[in-house]
Amino acid sequence: MANPEVNTGRRRFLTATTAVVGAIGAGFAAVPFVSSWQPSAKARVAGAPVEQDISKLEVGQRLIVQWRGQPVWIIRRDEAQLAALPSLDGSLRDPDSKNIDQQPTYAANAHRSIRPEIGVMVGLCTHLGCSPSFVPEMVPQLFDANWKGGFYCPCHNSRFDLAGRVYAGVPAPTNLRIPPHRFLDDDRILIGVDTEGAA
Ligand code: FES
Repeated sequence: MANPEVNTGRRRFLTATTAVVGAIGAGFAAVPFVSSWQPSAKARVAGAPVEQDISKLEVGQRLIVQWRGQPVWIIRRDEAQLAALPSLDGSLRDPDSKNIDQQPTYAANAHRSIRPEIGVMVGLCTHLGCSPSFVPEMVPQLFDANWKGGFYCPCHNSRFDLAGRVYAGVPAPTNLRIPPHRFLDDDRILIGVDTEGAA
């Protein structure tokens, strides 16, 4: 007849041994798995934040920076252009930036930016991804007799104001996207990293 004490002890030993071997096996197995998830140096660079000097950016001009394979626009607006933004609210689909997917919380304001005069946005139409034209002049246009400056997408006639807010009644469903960004000082901006302390 088997000795239950011995069997129990042997069973405990076997269980413990198996657990140790299992743990070692899992450890060896985990290494190649984890390393296969490490981004390559090239991928890290492609996703890295991009720093841009904006000291030479003048009113009415647009800089285009590549970040994560997307064009990011940086524009400088003047007082008149900023003052005109509230007058457009009634013509826009989401004037108060309620769609939280389209901008960080620090850009959910009247000008959709950290500094009122500097606008930063992803330069892709939110309809099908065409590149809208920059039309900053506040003069009547063929596509809008009441134009107050902004962006016009010629692919299917979507319009956005100078804060990247989409007009109502056009194919583009949402405002232009604002990427995470922060100012390093008065003249340098970092695209791809949120403002310190921001959500
Ligand atoms: S892609 Fe811009 S309106 Fe269709």
